[in-house]
Amino acid sequence: MHYFEYKNNRLYAEDVPLETLAETYGTPLYVYSHKTLLRHFKAYDTSFKDFPHIICFAIKANSNASILKLFANEGGGADIVSGGELYRAKAAGISSEKIVYAGVGKKEDEIAYALNENILMFNVESEQELAAINKVAANLGKCARVALRINPDINPQTHPYISTGLKKNKFGIPYEGALEFYKQASKLKNIEVVGIHKHIGSQIINITPFLDALNRIVALIDQLKAVGIGIKYLDIGGGLGIQYLDEVPPHPEELAKKVIPIVAGRDITIIMEPGRALVGNAGILLSKVLYVKKGSDRDFIIVDSGMNDLMRPAMYGAYHHIMPVKKTKRKNVFADIVGPICESSDFVGKDRDIQSFEPGELAAIMSAGAYGSSMSSNYNSRPRAAEVLVSGTEHYLIRQRETYEDLVRGEKIPDFLK
Ligand code: LLP
Repeated sequence: MHYFEYKNNRLYAEDVPLETLAETYGTPLYVYSHKTLLRHFKAYDTSFKDFPHIICFAIKANSNASILKLFANEGGGADIVSGGELYRAKAAGISSEKIVYAGVGKKEDEIAYALNENILMFNVESEQELAAINKVAANLGKCARVALRINPDINPQTHPYISTGLKKNKFGIPYEGALEFYKQASKLKNIEVVGIHKHIGSQIINITPFLDALNRIVALIDQLKAVGIGIKYLDIGGGLGIQYLDEVPPHPEELAKKVIPIVAGRDITIIMEPGRALVGNAGILLSKVLYVKKGSDRDFIIVDSGMNDLMRPAMYGAYHHIMPVKKTKRKNVFADIVGPICESSDFVGKDRDIQSFEPGELAAIMSAGAYGSSMSSNYNSRPRAAEVLVSGTEHYLIRQRETYEDLVRGEKIPDFLK
């Protein structure tokens, strides 16, 4: 569900025509709908209202300060994976007791930073990492709260690059050795075991593997209790999918209806880490058509956004719907919609049956709110796109377009080359 809709054959973000935004801010431009973001957050929050829970937004999906602030204002926390994400979370006013920290490669300075900020817990992914956290905590005279991230060896039935809960994936601690690992962890002086964590993958459409994994984790919670290790926080991860084309992902209400009975009867707080489900369909990438080239078996519609702006099609072959901002009566064409970057993988849409475009017209690349801007780069020395938040009839620049000066900031030419 989102608020990008046609009115009189013109595509709008809430009550603002996308044409107005292109004129005001230029293209390529990320456009987010405030109402959609809020709606998605509330859908999670309301669905779990009868159970203690914290929604820790996975910052990697979209790390813009205004979006973090918006969720923080609603009581949201953060799932972070780096010192940089911790910095962003704190700058947006997210309270430390709602911050959880995952990732297989936490560095000692990042661990110290998180300890000094007194975050809720580290989601630990290996023995050596746990030892490092214990050591850093001892040096600082602190006790680190931890959850162990358990790899439940369940196939999330998603793209292999975004699957994380199988034995062959680098994530988490093997299920078989988990009980022993917990016993060892609970003996460490500067460690307090408080939780358990799982995250099996992203863009999950079938809820069954998610629940299978949860059942395995809950069984482990009960075994832990039997040996005197109490778990206060059950972090069920993120991963619920969204509709890019015709997928029918589970609604948060369905998630809650199925998750709560599995967990019920235990004195526990559920932590969730949704990323894509909150922001994916709340954002689009507004692009301008530069040229239309007639190929021998298809047209190439060349737009001004490329794989540096939206990496997903090049990286995963991901599908993003593309909508003309102005609907016309022109016939459809068979076309690839491609960017200006010098790589054949630089496409936003392949083999599309799409309304024909004239140069200068606008196209909206849909479902670009998650892993769009946050994965963008300066490849081909292209300044990163601006970002705008629309709320009703108002629009706000929430990230300015980078300049050429920004591209070379931080670079230095040593004297011997001068
Ligand atoms: N929690 C953890 C520990 C994660 O690693 C992730 C995502 C999430 C939560 C949020 O997952 P979500 O709810 O957004 O599915 N770049 C890829 C997605 C990579 C996801 C990485 N981890 C893409 O564009 O599809």
